[in-house]
Amino acid sequence: MVEIKSLKKCYGDRTVLDIPELVFENGTVTALAGANGSGKTTLLRILAGIIKKTEGSVKTPASVLYLPQQCYAFRGNLIKNITLSGADEKEASVLLRKLGLDNLASKKAKSLSGGELQRLALCRILSKKCELLLLDEPTSACDARGAQLVTEAINDYKEKYGCTVIMSTHSPALAVNSAQRLIVLGSGRIEADGAPSDILSSPESQWAKSFTSGWKI
Ligand SMILES: Nc1ncnc2c1ncn2[C@@H]1O[C@H](COP(=O)(O)OP(=O)(O)O)[C@@H](O)[C@H]1O
Ligand SMILES: [Mg+2]
Repeated sequence: MVEIKSLKKCYGDRTVLDIPELVFENGTVTALAGANGSGKTTLLRILAGIIKKTEGSVKTPASVLYLPQQCYAFRGNLIKNITLSGADEKEASVLLRKLGLDNLASKKAKSLSGGELQRLALCRILSKKCELLLLDEPTSACDARGAQLVTEAINDYKEKYGCTVIMSTHSPALAVNSAQRLIVLGSGRIEADGAPSDILSSPESQWAKSFTSGWKI
C-alpha cells in the first residue's frame, strides 16, 4: 500500500504539492492527470524517493521502479540496453517484440527516435520485478500504435506481478484502458478522484473538461 499524509512540497515560499491524505491500495492502477505544472512529476519523484518532501509522511513498498519523463539510452544496441538491468537476452527480445522494437534490436540505442526511446526505456523497466511501478507520461512521445503497445505492456506487467501502478498521463485513452482510478491534480491539489469513466463523462473541474474535450468514451 502507498500511504500519503499531510504531504507538502515547497520551492522557496511556493507550495507546488499539497495533499492532506491519499492511499493507493495494493494492486491498483491509477492515472494522474493535470495541466503542465500541476505537480504530477513532483508527486511521482517523491514516491520514487528521488526528491525530498517538505512536510508530511509517505509510505511506499520496498521495491519501486520509476520511468522518468525524459528517457535516456545507454551506449550499445537495444538488447544491451535491456540486459544491463539484469535481464537475459531472451527476455530482452520478448520485451522488444512486445513494444514493437524487435526489428531495431541490434541498432544503436542512441540513434532511436523519441517514441522508440521511450518504449526502450519502458522495456528496461519492465524487465525487472517491483511492487510499485511509477510511470511519468509513458506514452507522451509515442504515436497511436506505440501508445497502444505501451498500454498493453503495462497491463500485462500488472497482470503478471500484481503490482501497484501510478502513472501520469495526458492521454484519456491510457487512463480509460489501463487505470481503474483517475486523480486530477490542479496547482498541486487533488481536484478530482474517481473512476476514469465517471470523471471523463462528468468532469468535476474545468481542467478535466479540457482533458476530455473531443474525446468520447
Ligand atoms: N526544482 C524545482 N525548483 C523550483 N520549482 C520547481 C522545481 N521542480 C518543479 N518545480 C515547479 O513545481 C511545479 C510542479 O511541477 P511538475 O511536478 O513538474 O508538474 P507536472 O509534472 O504536472 O507538469 C511547477 O510549477 C514547476 O515549475
Ligand atoms: Mg511532469
